[in-house]
Amino acid sequence: MLFDKLKANRRIPFHMPGHKRNTKLLGKKLPYDIDITEIDGFDNLHCPRGVLKEIEDKAKRIYNSDNSFVLVNGSTVGILSGVAAVLSRGDDVLIARNCHKSVYNAVELVGARAHYITPETDEYGVFQPLNPAVLKRRLEEVKPKLLVITSPTYEGVCSDVEGICELAHSYNIPVLLDAAHGAHMYELGSSADIVVMSLHKTLPALTQCALAHINGDLVSAEKFRIKLSVFETSSPSYVLMSSVDECLSLLENESYKIRSLEYVLKRADLNDGLADLKHLKLLEYDDIHKLVIFSGYSDLSGIELANVLRESFNIEVEMATASYVVLITTECDDFWSYKLLQNALKEIDASINKTEFESPKAFPIPKKQCEACEVKDSLAVDLSSSEGKISAEYVWAYPPGIPLIVPGEVVSREIIDYISSGVAKSVNIQSTFNMLPEKIYCQS
Ligand SMILES: Cc1ncc(COP(=O)(O)O)c(C=O)c1O
Repeated sequence: MLFDKLKANRRIPFHMPGHKRNTKLLGKKLPYDIDITEIDGFDNLHCPRGVLKEIEDKAKRIYNSDNSFVLVNGSTVGILSGVAAVLSRGDDVLIARNCHKSVYNAVELVGARAHYITPETDEYGVFQPLNPAVLKRRLEEVKPKLLVITSPTYEGVCSDVEGICELAHSYNIPVLLDAAHGAHMYELGSSADIVVMSLHKTLPALTQCALAHINGDLVSAEKFRIKLSVFETSSPSYVLMSSVDECLSLLENESYKIRSLEYVLKRADLNDGLADLKHLKLLEYDDIHKLVIFSGYSDLSGIELANVLRESFNIEVEMATASYVVLITTECDDFWSYKLLQNALKEIDASINKTEFESPKAFPIPKKQCEACEVKDSLAVDLSSSEGKISAEYVWAYPPGIPLIVPGEVVSREIIDYISSGVAKSVNIQSTFNMLPEKIYCQS
């Protein structure tokens, strides 16, 4: 195991990092003692042949993939590299509009032409699986060089990835699956041509630990490796890489498998315990690792629910929107915390009042005037007077980081109202230049 090798390392460090593993001087609060650089015997992430190759082989075994890659810059670097491995300037790409901003950034960087397919939303405003008939039509219209989809989503909604890949492959189109939230779904590892997953989101791994898998022969694994060496740090952290190693070993460990079974039972118990809430509503999608609590039928917004959970019950949620919260549950939960959460939600439920909820209208994709990479000089404009102008920046709510508008798209009245009402409801709306809600950069 990489960790044991790092622990056993006694060489005198006349190399980076500058802390020189001097725990006598610096203390042991941070893992200085195992934090090294790529010295002899410790392999090279950008060309793994030794101990790091063993980790990638372990990932291949667990995820049944043709090629696996350890990532230390999160799924983000896998997405940037995956897009760049397939697309060149001017190529067409079909993107599910509910993709994370890293997909949009990648497409802008390579200068590809973006086309979208927007999944429907349900009555609670949550994106649903991609519709195969609509997808077929869009694939035929756009004839893209790459299809990019997200499954599972932040809320735990899964698309039929196998069916989608089969459809895309019938046109010889490779699929990049953003499974950042699906590292615990081992079968996804071999499902698409490029699969990217964040170990750190739903599995026991340190923040930024992720994997990518390249399958089949529509995408070159070698080209992906070359793009990784462009976008990923040349000083990958051994602390993070040993966390990937530990995480993968744990997945193969019998006691973790038993814990996974226990987890499924406890999660089912938690859902049962939340079935009789009066005003709050448990929304059950495909992935039990996500717990979605809808508060739209009450006088408490999702943001307020998150605040009450934090301030009165010491519970921090993963994401809050205007009408629901998303909590991440995993095998590593202390199962007592489920009891505390259940009690907290029941207490809150008893203290709120019923209101009417109007289902949010499907959000229309803004009209595209030019590609994001073609936007030229820009200047800050008052949001209120930006209608009809071409946005020079991305605007998104974070999390989940799905862009509401992309550079090159026309600012509509609906967008302005959406941003203003989001801000009024304390939704965390961000933009490239960070001047909202007052100003938005538009092409001059
Ligand atoms: C759907 C999706 N894709 C990609 C990412 C980026 O993942 P990472 O933070 O591991 O870089 C996120 C982050 O939240 C995400 O939600």
